Amino acid sequence: MKIALLGFGVVGRGVYDICQTLPGLEVVRILRRKGSPRELPIVTDCFEDIVNDPSVDCVVEAMGGLHPAREYLLACMAAGKQVVTSNKAVLAAFYDELSDAARSAGVAFGCEACVAGGVPFLAALRKAARVSPILGFSGILNGTTNYILSRMVDEGADFGQVLSAAQQLGYAEADPSADVDGLDVQNKAIVTCGIAFGFAPSHGQVPTFGIGSIQGQDVADILSMGRVPKLLATARREGDSLCCTVEPVLVERGSLEAAVPLNNNLASLEAQGIGTLKFYGQGAGALPTGNAVVQDLLDIAQGCKDTPPRTGGALQSDLSLLRARWWLRLSPEAAQRAKEELGAACESVRPRGEESVCLETAELPAQDFYALRSRLLALDPKLFAARFA
Ligand code: HSE
Repeated sequence: MKIALLGFGVVGRGVYDICQTLPGLEVVRILRRKGSPRELPIVTDCFEDIVNDPSVDCVVEAMGGLHPAREYLLACMAAGKQVVTSNKAVLAAFYDELSDAARSAGVAFGCEACVAGGVPFLAALRKAARVSPILGFSGILNGTTNYILSRMVDEGADFGQVLSAAQQLGYAEADPSADVDGLDVQNKAIVTCGIAFGFAPSHGQVPTFGIGSIQGQDVADILSMGRVPKLLATARREGDSLCCTVEPVLVERGSLEAAVPLNNNLASLEAQGIGTLKFYGQGAGALPTGNAVVQDLLDIAQGCKDTPPRTGGALQSDLSLLRARWWLRLSPEAAQRAKEELGAACESVRPRGEESVCLETAELPAQDFYALRSRLLALDPKLFAARFA
């Protein structure tokens, strides 16, 4: 099968290197931006060289970003090329349009690499869903933030320094705020909902909070409670209702999630009959993510025409499906407001020095807590909040 790569960054290079080791998968063209080094004769800066080349069977989009990735994917599908993407941002933003376009064109559209890097989590969801409906999923789906949190927990490392290390190791997005603010996980959660439930929610339906405001002292306090902070995506479907969120979660120290080190991911699915299954491994980096792309390529080479499904009808967002307790570290002024608003639902308050207060809530519906958090953020933009698992 003759393959063209759109993009030659971390993932594109990983795909290229793996294809060199496999007979039958030949990379014949690589699209790079004008002015990029042309270290290989197959590099071009002209997309038309690829979409109009009848010898190209399959196009791998690993450029990232929304545009022109969307337009290139649609053009390749319309030209009858099989397509594979590792770009969760474009798939989350245009899930319905892209998956419908692939089906209309009768081409395969692989997206395994969009979620959990080298861990075959989407493939597992598809298989599980063939037997019984997926009830929910959750997971550590971002290597960069897990790397940061795990080094803060294990070594007391400084947030900024470990973020730089994650960038150097090729885990972080081009703009690492996408990792730190939870937006990368939000995109992955949307794509995963699409695969799990046949319905991809909009970004506005997935409340998302990152780890950008976590401090070393927060980590120490959380550890002293027998908990470990992790950035988790969580989704639950009940009938026509869907609750999907991304936020820091304080998992029990003895849980599998707590033990996930460095850039690894741990994704769980729950379905009737099989209960909960957990999938662990490297969620970022050239070869793990490249491996997921190549798995799609091998399936396509064998005639697979799978596309991301759209089977569930529209699900309504219902955050009341999630009830939990939350932990907050915030300024004394914001803490006073939280105490007043929470009333009896404020379970404990503990000053930390002169500038911070740690507070725990009783069990609340998620929508009530998220509304409160928005009001508190106006008083203390640097507050950190995390849900108790
Ligand atoms: N920046 C992403 C991560 C890359 O850290 O998980 C893999 O999707």
